[in-house]
Amino acid sequence: MALLDLPGDRGHGRALDQVAPEFALIADNARVAGQAEEEVDVARARDTHRLRVRASRTSDGLVLTFDDITRLVSAQRNAAWRDVARRIAHEIKNPLTPIQLSAERLQRKFRKDVPAADLEVFDRCTDTIVRQVGDIGRMVDEFSSFARMPAPKFAEQDAAELLRAGVFAQRVATPDISVELLEPIPEVVLLADGRMLAQALTNVLKNASEAVAARVAETPKPKGRITTELVVDAEGVTVTVEDNGLGLPAKDRDRLTEPYVTTREKGTGLGLAIVKRILEDHGGELILTDARRGRGARAILKFPTMAMIRNGSAPAAADTNVEVS
Ligand SMILES: Nc1ncnc2c1ncn2[C@@H]1O[C@H](COP(=O)(O)OP(=O)(O)O)[C@@H](O)[C@H]1O
Ligand SMILES: [Mg+2]
Repeated sequence: MALLDLPGDRGHGRALDQVAPEFALIADNARVAGQAEEEVDVARARDTHRLRVRASRTSDGLVLTFDDITRLVSAQRNAAWRDVARRIAHEIKNPLTPIQLSAERLQRKFRKDVPAADLEVFDRCTDTIVRQVGDIGRMVDEFSSFARMPAPKFAEQDAAELLRAGVFAQRVATPDISVELLEPIPEVVLLADGRMLAQALTNVLKNASEAVAARVAETPKPKGRITTELVVDAEGVTVTVEDNGLGLPAKDRDRLTEPYVTTREKGTGLGLAIVKRILEDHGGELILTDARRGRGARAILKFPTMAMIRNGSAPAAADTNVEVS
């Protein structure tokens, strides 16, 4: 009954239409045909469930039974998305390398013969091909890493080191944005898949830098800034990435971690879907919210205490490669 969000009296004595209007049609069908079965979306204050409802007519009324298939449907949808992503990635990736190589070859071979007056156009065209092909390649990589998503291989990971590496890479990628790592950085070891965590961090940092770049293009002040922080407390390990960029969109805000939800022209909408999946595989969660001060967004990557092997002062174990899975 919790599914239907019924009041205390459980709807006793009231008509079905009032208690659960979604079932009216299937009930009518069962009254006529004796039996009916249908999938029905039931939206209640807290969330929406998809139920498989069976109705049968008995001598003194109707019996309705329902199974909650919400998770099944979402798993099926996910599997379908993955399949599409995998195929698209494959089909697109193949021709990219020859396109890129051909453009570079044109540059090398014919640039010297191009009359000075046409040189600018020549360069612009070949550069555009090379650059756009690069963009497509990166998008496709995002597609395929979402589609592949292997099971994590757990080992001991130095969380501070992972964050330092991510921050460093982001500084190199976007020298105009100040990427900070708040001190003191606690030393903490997580039982995790290092490559996956690195990817989750990269995706979140990349989003932050893109939101910052878009905002700076609109209003150059204040200077673009991304602040990261690693915190260890009783609840576990938290990595926070806060930026002073555009801020999260108002529309579809709670759907941003779904695959293919994007507000960016060149976006795939897969970045956060990947981050969410990685965190869930580690028993953690991803929280997206507003920056604490001013315009901007804050992404919080939470890992449960369970994932934490030791922190700070605890002595280091001799064996650093504990494989669990
Ligand atoms: N730091 C951020 N600031 C503002 N918006 C963000 C931020 N991170 C994510 N978003 C929003 O979430 C959407 C989905 O992000 P993501 O899944 O990484 O896909 P993509 O980056 O390809 O658009 C983005 O299009 C953007 O609207
Ligand atoms: Mg992204």
